[in-house]
Formats: sequence, structure tokens, C-alpha cells
Amino acid sequence: MRDEIVAGLEKPQKELPCKLFYDERGSHLFEKITMLEEYYLTRTEVAIMEENIGDIASRLGDRCMLIEFGSGSGEKTRFLLEHLKNPAAYVPIDISKEQLMRSAARIAATYPGLDILPVCADYNDAIQIPSSVKTVDRRIVYYPGSTIGNFHRDEAVDFLRRIARICGPTGGLLIGVDLKKDPAVLLRAYNDSQGVTADFNLNVLVRINREFDADFDIDRFRHVATFDPSNGRIELHLVSLADQTVRVEGAEIVFEKGESIWTESSYKFTVEEFSKLAFAGGFQTKKVWTDDEQLFSVQYLTTHSDIDA
Ligand code: TRP
Repeated sequence: MRDEIVAGLEKPQKELPCKLFYDERGSHLFEKITMLEEYYLTRTEVAIMEENIGDIASRLGDRCMLIEFGSGSGEKTRFLLEHLKNPAAYVPIDISKEQLMRSAARIAATYPGLDILPVCADYNDAIQIPSSVKTVDRRIVYYPGSTIGNFHRDEAVDFLRRIARICGPTGGLLIGVDLKKDPAVLLRAYNDSQGVTADFNLNVLVRINREFDADFDIDRFRHVATFDPSNGRIELHLVSLADQTVRVEGAEIVFEKGESIWTESSYKFTVEEFSKLAFAGGFQTKKVWTDDEQLFSVQYLTTHSDIDA
């Protein structure tokens, strides 16, 4: 992580890896983001799930193994599990051990018959899916939250290919995908009036100061969200408010006033664009559920034939 941080800060466009967001405070701030009025994503996704849960459950079928990448608090999954027909196993994968264990224990308490197989890992690394003692008819990966939009396009395709291999020829992917819309609506979602997203973004610097040898002056950086129409993505930046030099793990990082660290991207898609991306990643689109305003989509994809298990 240390080398990754310094290497990112030494690039011409300074960058930091987005996995730095999710320490204890970051995870808490993120939960707050999902409850903000301006942040339409979470509540719209939840509403789409609720509205269509019958159809969703019947497409996923009986005796599935539900694999969740980045399970977090596990709240969204609970609703899905409640409606699945005889689910065989649940495999939550998360980088935060405390969150993972807490949510696995909660789910175990509610579903005594379910085989719960938590995996503590960075899901960007290779992952071994544990085998279940129960009969599994189909592996389903659940990837809500439009987290797929936080990868650049090529990375998203590689990631989908990895998921396709995990799913195998009979498997499927239930995924949340945020849709293209009026940029003003997007910008509000990533620059809320209460400044929660700003705190979330700035927390990356707080964390680096605490966990690494660094001396960022948090008050001399400002959260900025922009929309890049040509790439179809929101970008989060931390903009330096002054000419300054920051020491990070022995390296001297020089900032000009106005220069930024790029901390996150959130790509937005049309249904057609996502379908093409998914196809390149080994999946074909089976069903797209959306809301009346077409703000967000939940999609069910299955692997196509040239992906081997
Ligand atoms: N995937 C969601 C999104 O792109 C959640 C998210 C990831 C997010 N990183 C973020 C939200 C940074 C706000 C800021 O919106």
C-alpha cells in the first residue's frame, strides 16, 4: 500500500487508490452518503429491488450460492436472501474483517439453514470461492451499488471476466448500474450540501497521516466533484488550496495551488453501453430493471458460452 500511495502521488496527475476510503470512519461516512437526499443511487436501487423482487428471485432460481463482492454491512443482501428460493450458501467477501464477521453473524442468526462462508479479502486479488456442504445449482454473484462504475473501462472488463469465471457456465450476475442523466443531478449526488462526501473524500488524507508517515494539512485541501462528459464519469478530486510540500513516507510531494489528487471515478452508462461492456466481460444481458425516471438500473446477466468454468 505504501509504495502504491507514493507512486500515485508522484504521477503528473496525482492519484490515490480508492480502497483508502474504507477505514472505520470512511465506512461510517459512506453509510451516511447513502442516506443523503442528493445521493439518489442507494434508495433508487433499493426501490427497484423491492419492486421486482419476485421476478429477480425466480430468475436466480433454487439452491443458488450467493456470492457478494464487497458485502459491507450486508443490508441489501438480507432483503435478497429473504426472497430467494431455498438459497444454499452465502459467500460475503469484504476487505474489512470486523464488518464481515459482524454481518456474517447477523445473517447466520436469521438463516440457520444457510451455509455462510465469509471470505476476508481484497476482491481485486484472486479469490478462491470456498465449496459448500450443500447442493448448489447455480453460482450468483451480487454486485450492487454501481461499484462497477468505480473501475476504468478496461479494468471493469477484466473484473467482469474474473466474475464470469467464478460464476461458470450456469452462473449469473445481479448487478447495480448507475445510468447517464442530467449532469447537474450527478454533481449534486457527489457534492452534497451537508459536506458528507467532502468529509469522506478528505478522510483519505486523515487516514494516510494516521497509518503512514505523512503530514497532510487537511485544511489546505478541498473536495471537488466534476463530470467529464467525454468519458461519461464523475471524478472526485482533492484540490490543494495553496502551494505546499507534503512529506509522505520520506518522499516530498510538491503541490501547486489548484493542483489536485484524483481519488475516485464513477462511470455512468446507458443500458446499451453497459451491455457492450458486459459482453466484452463474458456476460450477456438477460434483464434490466429500472425506475420511472431511469435514474438507476439493476441488471441480471448470465455468462456467455466462450467463458469456461
Ligand atoms: N459506487 C458508488 C458510486 O460510484 C459508491 C461510491 C464509491 C462513492 N466511491 C464513492 C460515492 C465516492 C461517493 C464518493 O457512487
